[in-house]
Amino acid sequence: MNNTAAVILAAGKGTRMRSKTPKVLHKVAGKPLVWHVINAAQGAGVKEVVVVVGHGAEGVKNTLGEGIKFALQSEQLGTAHAVMQAKDVLSPEIENVMVLCGDTPLLEAVTLEKLIQTHLAKKAACTILSAQVTNPTGYGRIIRGDGGKVLKIVEEKDADESQKAIKEINSGTYCFTKNELFKALAKITPDNAQGEYYLTDVISVLSDDNLGVFSCIADNPKEIQGVNDRVHLAAAEKVLRMRKNIALMQNGVTLIDPDTTYIDYDVEIGPDTTIYPFTLLQGDVTIGADCEIGPSTTLKNTSVGENTTITRSVVIDSNIGSGCSVGPFAYLRPGTVLRQDVKIGDFVEVKKSDIDDGSKVPHLSYIGDSTIGKNVNVGAGTITCNYDGKNKWPTVIEDGAFIGSNTNLVAPVKVGKNSVIGAGSTITKDIPQNSLAIARQKQKNILDWKKKNKKECRDL
Ligand code: UD1
Ligand code: CA
Repeated sequence: MNNTAAVILAAGKGTRMRSKTPKVLHKVAGKPLVWHVINAAQGAGVKEVVVVVGHGAEGVKNTLGEGIKFALQSEQLGTAHAVMQAKDVLSPEIENVMVLCGDTPLLEAVTLEKLIQTHLAKKAACTILSAQVTNPTGYGRIIRGDGGKVLKIVEEKDADESQKAIKEINSGTYCFTKNELFKALAKITPDNAQGEYYLTDVISVLSDDNLGVFSCIADNPKEIQGVNDRVHLAAAEKVLRMRKNIALMQNGVTLIDPDTTYIDYDVEIGPDTTIYPFTLLQGDVTIGADCEIGPSTTLKNTSVGENTTITRSVVIDSNIGSGCSVGPFAYLRPGTVLRQDVKIGDFVEVKKSDIDDGSKVPHLSYIGDSTIGKNVNVGAGTITCNYDGKNKWPTVIEDGAFIGSNTNLVAPVKVGKNSVIGAGSTITKDIPQNSLAIARQKQKNILDWKKKNKKECRDL
């Protein structure tokens, strides 16, 4: 029975980030560092997750939300001390505890699964996820004795020259038998170069008692790379984005240039959709099949149906249906709903508006707080005047209406079904259905005006 919990250490400040945000909340591929660690642990099948929080505890708790337990380490006295805080939070039935650091976002679920399986198969007291690296600087070194028995871990700052030469390093991820872990933790002292309670000292306590300590060497040492500063953050970002891009391409999405396509971790895209360069898909984005997105397009928290084209545009918190065409150079702000076969053309801004099937706003318009019916044509330069300086007011345009170019719709106002507005009108009153509304000055033609003097013309 796999009764394993994950304890994730995330109480440290992350001084080297030089940030007011706790390190583990810095994002890669649109998700906090610690979120990726939790995701990998859950993917490996752990029964529960306990995150040890300290620095910026409230922020970390609020960000991670439900389904996760928290333990508070109010003073950061070291990794062993951090794990101790989780003792009473773990459910009694938990038998094994996998400990991870909140700043290693590249760990994959399969690697953690292998660690747990190795631990269970060997009936070990502790199994360390280690790695063979060319440059071990900064990491704890795995010290082995006769027959390769793991004896202890020595931290960089406590290591002598021969120990520093060892290339097998501690990833900071381990699987422990719960009872042995907490018994050993009670024996740890802060008697070392940093004056901290080192979790790594648990290894020598267990090994000295001849309780089984093993290591599971990671197939890919890059996975264990931690994030300590913003250079590491950018490196992790690159790796995670490329993993996401590869997964999408393997699922039938064409990325013209994966190196310049920035897709967050949770984004879903249907097959035969093409994403052009310099496109950012951020947060909760879903795109259906057969779409063309980009180049130079940003979609944030937006859903897109099938067969839709979005070119050189910015779309935020919106829903776009199937068969739509957006851009180039459109700006769809929060609350925009485009149903089917809607066209939004160049230099059009839409905010908090619902535009129904087959309608078109092809050029140079502002549509705000509006409800537009089916098969409506909004002429170039149409503006909904939705704001009177104090309040926002709605505009309703019913099915089949035709709005002439350069119309101002002074809200609140309603345009009835199949009505037509003459170009250049400023509409302040509701228009009944099947009507023509013209609201502009009548044209005067002054004949022979060149012959008249200027004053006479000014008085007209
Ligand atoms: C640790 C290991 C080292 C390993 C390395 C891998 C120890 C003593 N050393 O070193 O062997 O090679 O990870 O990356 O464990 N934290 C707390 N509370 C604390 C101290 C730390 O929650 O009191 C958290 C940090 O937020 C961080 C994690 O524990 O997420 C690791 O701490 P850090 O100080 O980065 O340890 P390293 O020096 O990297
Ligand atoms: Ca670290």
